[in-house]
Amino acid sequence: MLDHLTVVTHPLVQHKLTLMREADTSTASFRQLLREISLLLAYEVTRELPMTTKRIETPLTEMDAPMIEGKKLALISILRAGNGLLDGILELIPAARVGFIGLYRDHETLQPVQYYFKVPDHLEDRVTIVVDPMLATGNSSAAAIKLLKDKGAKNIRFLCLLAAPEGIAHMKAEHPDVPIVTASVDSHLNEKGYIVPGLGDAGDRMFGTK
Ligand code: URA
Repeated sequence: MLDHLTVVTHPLVQHKLTLMREADTSTASFRQLLREISLLLAYEVTRELPMTTKRIETPLTEMDAPMIEGKKLALISILRAGNGLLDGILELIPAARVGFIGLYRDHETLQPVQYYFKVPDHLEDRVTIVVDPMLATGNSSAAAIKLLKDKGAKNIRFLCLLAAPEGIAHMKAEHPDVPIVTASVDSHLNEKGYIVPGLGDAGDRMFGTK
């Protein structure tokens, strides 16, 4: 079982994250770094997957060789910034099933409202990895995980690039069974809900919008 919070301190991850944080990093570099870092984070979030063995023949002999057990993983991207992490992870796990959840924040209630939901079937039998680069308030992540649990998902992990202490506390309160893997826990959220020091709006930085 993964810990509730794993901070990936590997030098490559931390070096790439620093380059991504810099305000003058171009959209192209930001995208490339995100793709690279997502491979390294995917390696961590897929630790301790259930394993089985398969009888195979090498050129020399037979052996019982290790394989990941069970149905294909489900990767769930929280739109739109989740797609940046998703692309890299899919290079490492090309056979994964993929889902998308779109949520926006209602201006009056400030609560997340679902506008898109399409996820793989049989979530109850899959390890489900939810990806969103920024765990800020945790409102949308917690809501997305609730929707997945309502669809049957039982074994869920959450992968982000940066997390705020507020978002981690929110997730721990609502989903203590969901381990979080991140490259950094930053200082706090500002009054606009941005992670500080952070990297700005992850979606804008990866897609070149403002
Ligand atoms: N979403 C972002 O893209 N950036 C933040 O700092 C917080 C939420």
